[in-house]
Amino acid sequence: MSIEVSYYENFQEIKKKIWLMLSDAITNRKSSFRIPVFICGEQSDFDGRIVVLRQTDKDNKIVQFHSDIRSDKIKKLKKNTNAAMLFYDKEEKIQVRLKVECIVNYSNEVTKESWSKTQHISRKCYLVDSSPGSESSTPTSGLKPELDNFEFTKEQSEDGYQNFTVVQCKIKSMEWLYLAAKGHRRAMFDLEKNKENWLVP
Ligand SMILES: Cc1cc2nc3c(=O)[nH]c(=O)nc-3n(C[C@H](O)[C@H](O)[C@H](O)COP(=O)(O)O)c2cc1C
Repeated sequence: MSIEVSYYENFQEIKKKIWLMLSDAITNRKSSFRIPVFICGEQSDFDGRIVVLRQTDKDNKIVQFHSDIRSDKIKKLKKNTNAAMLFYDKEEKIQVRLKVECIVNYSNEVTKESWSKTQHISRKCYLVDSSPGSESSTPTSGLKPELDNFEFTKEQSEDGYQNFTVVQCKIKSMEWLYLAAKGHRRAMFDLEKNKENWLVP
């Protein structure tokens, strides 16, 4: 049995659906779109990792996530600001691929605002002494024992701000793939040229 969906063959409805899924992911912890793969790098050295989608701004075509300024991906982004994001919702049978250009925000109004909304549990990630990805001779969380629980104070958590960064991803293009029994559909949206076209799935 197939269920008719408004976005099957309609560019405007597809775009609407993509933005709906992206914005829902910000507050809906069960959304698959909440944890996309973020891919960046250079010619012979690029990789992907899961991040948490923290904000979407449809008017400015921006999605954003948080990270540690010392992490490998930030080093890569400093050399090449072009990156990609990959989303898949198994229930909806929808894959979205974004090509983006990144702005790494550090110690500015954007980070200040996001940090103020960052919860106690999430602030913990930014309290590790050594850079994420640095080698350790023992299995470790990277945290000092006194911080390795949730008993650290709000004041102590403020130390994490020095490592906190907000990566804003300006969307250049969105590619949509919808898997349907009656026939898959694939579309490309060029947000820079404001152009859209169908692709063979
Ligand atoms: C569910 C989940 C959510 C994650 N969210 C983030 C995130 O929002 N930001 C981030 O920098 N890393 C996040 N990570 C960790 C990254 O996937 C990655 O391991 C880490 O950032 C180091 O990557 P890098 O060395 O490429 O910088 C998350 C991992 C998982 C499994």
